[in-house]
Amino acid sequence: DAADLGHFRHYMQKEIFEQPTAIANTLQRVLELGCKPALFGPEADTLFANAPAVRIVACGSSYHAGLVARYWIEEWTGLPVSVDIASEYRYRKGREQDGTLIVAISQSGETADLLAAMRSARERGDVKVLALCNVPHSTLTRESDLLFLTQAGQEIGVASTKAFTTQLVALYVLAAALAQSRQTLSASALDEIVGALHRLPVLVEEMLALDGELDKWAHELSHYNHALFLGRHTLFPIALEGALKLKEIAYIHAEGYAAGELKHGPLALVDENMPIIVCAAADELLEKLVSNLREVEARSGKVFLLAEPGCEAAHDGAHRVLTMPVASGPLAPVVLTLPLQMLAYHTACRKGTDVDKPRNLAKSVTVE
Ligand code: G6P
Repeated sequence: DAADLGHFRHYMQKEIFEQPTAIANTLQRVLELGCKPALFGPEADTLFANAPAVRIVACGSSYHAGLVARYWIEEWTGLPVSVDIASEYRYRKGREQDGTLIVAISQSGETADLLAAMRSARERGDVKVLALCNVPHSTLTRESDLLFLTQAGQEIGVASTKAFTTQLVALYVLAAALAQSRQTLSASALDEIVGALHRLPVLVEEMLALDGELDKWAHELSHYNHALFLGRHTLFPIALEGALKLKEIAYIHAEGYAAGELKHGPLALVDENMPIIVCAAADELLEKLVSNLREVEARSGKVFLLAEPGCEAAHDGAHRVLTMPVASGPLAPVVLTLPLQMLAYHTACRKGTDVDKPRNLAKSVTVE
């Protein structure tokens, strides 16, 4: 029962801990069938094969999920992908190429700006709308051509947690299904991408063991008024999401940045009073990230590093380091979301805020 808190203090905490199950449930049919286009509807294979472009529209955390998906879809299909904030897209004037796949991501399926953006897209060209939603009978699911339902279960905490990670999972499956329809990956590459999903619920479960350590980080973080979150590649949108969580529930001014963009502005803010939370993966951009971190450390910024194994080069000079149990390859953005959620959660608890109902915010924004 979603309303039963059990031994948890807050719904948000409960929902963080439900993620292994929420992800496993979302993946159930995928693991039986593979990342098949048919998971999105009977017409999906043809539409995926012929789409000239993908446009993702969403708000809030759902928008961040869309930003991650761009990296996967571009890399695996070569398709042009754009990601738009729904409230901006609806007032832009551009046309859409016929056949464009509009991916509308929404936990609730009732966000007013998102619905308006979807309807506006239909007026700009002969597009097809794929809804990615957590609520089966919502306005979004009713008005879409293709559908994938995330199986997060009811989410009560205003700050999205399990809905966000299940959206990421669904988008990963979408990227693989697009690649399958368009035959842009070899069978073995596709197998590897799909195979990684089998381990995901266990990887996510292992992250929950870091909760106590992140509570210690939170104790420190709760004394600051500002924070920067950094990442690169698929971890850049995760930095945005980490910053959003911290400001939403702990009321600490936080900004997420692509680490390479640091020198174009935020570096001016860095001194010993600036905590910098960094997500690092052992990928081809690690060396670049390390040099970004050196710039921060030279200015006495306090680096809190969340690193996959293999990122030892980034450890030197960091104020705190937490190493993930294992590397998760292309699924790193899913896995690294959890420590950021736990960090925001514990920081909010230490500050005594109303975690599940942060001031001025609503779970679902059904007016413009
Ligand atoms: C509100 C919620 C966020 C959510 C956003 C988009 O701002 O507080 O958690 O990400 O709406 O909602 P949706 O239901 O469209 O995903």
